[in-house]
Amino acid sequence: MPEPDRFLEDVLAGLRGEQKTLPCKYLYDARGSLLFEEICELDEYYPTRTEFDIMESSVADMAGHLGESVLLIEYGSGSSRKTRLLLDAMRAPAGYVPIDISGEILEESASAIVQRYPGLEVFPICADYLMPLQIPKLAKSVSRSVVYFPGSTIGNFRPEEALEFLNRVAHLIGEGGGLLIGVDLRKEPDVLRRAYDDSNGVTAAFNRNLLTRINRELAGEFPEEAFRHESFWNKDHGRIEMHLVCETACRVAVGAEFISFSAGESIVTEYAYKYEVGEFQSLASKAGFTPQAVWTDPEEKFSVHYFNVRQSHL
Ligand code: AVI
Repeated sequence: MPEPDRFLEDVLAGLRGEQKTLPCKYLYDARGSLLFEEICELDEYYPTRTEFDIMESSVADMAGHLGESVLLIEYGSGSSRKTRLLLDAMRAPAGYVPIDISGEILEESASAIVQRYPGLEVFPICADYLMPLQIPKLAKSVSRSVVYFPGSTIGNFRPEEALEFLNRVAHLIGEGGGLLIGVDLRKEPDVLRRAYDDSNGVTAAFNRNLLTRINRELAGEFPEEAFRHESFWNKDHGRIEMHLVCETACRVAVGAEFISFSAGESIVTEYAYKYEVGEFQSLASKAGFTPQAVWTDPEEKFSVHYFNVRQSHL
């Protein structure tokens, strides 16, 4: 299905439900991606900086676990600052496969890597990482494939989606394969809430930009000023929920349909699940991974895990 049709179909499917939802992957158009980069720089948004610090202090140990002649496959390659740390520390990496849904970001990050590591074979793949993938064949010999999935994007999946994703990764990399993954940890609700509702309103702009995108790309007629950003910690589900709340009742045209909102009704635009270390290890274990190591910051705000695919699982 062509991309704009898929976008319209996903938006309408989400807005027809009892609890209205919109898939969070659509938050990242060009403006959304820039706003997300801004979020990553905010004092209140601790995950990016904390994960980077963990990588910086433990990258040699991580590279030791990965080993030599590894094919590194990165999901959601983004700006690749953390990847450079990793590639610098790895022993004779065989190749690098960045995967990103945004063609522009992918090209930029892949060409930056090609320039910095002239001998490295780089195969960018523009894809949604929930779609099936095939690992490209390299000229060099490869000891194992390792998936790198930083940023705690796994937290944006519901646990059943996270399990399906991890299963898929295990099958993709096969026996002996590895997974290096960043996972945000459960903490003080107030710290979490501020990370998703910053005082400069950048997260609010990031969330509301989704309506601007729908209006622009799908000829939608959302009255954008009637929707406000809201995020809160849902203790029962162990997740931050990000919503767009409609302040006044309205009827909105999207494509050929009309969607009705009552005053106070909301659209869920994102979940961000937060895990305990052991809880995430059990989830990954159900998908066939064996925990090898975990690194955290001194305050245990964020974790980076290394897993191997269990031999008997595949
Ligand atoms: C991409 N992802 C891991 C971010 C998160 O923290 O869940 C997205 C985000 N949403 C609001 N702020 C950041």
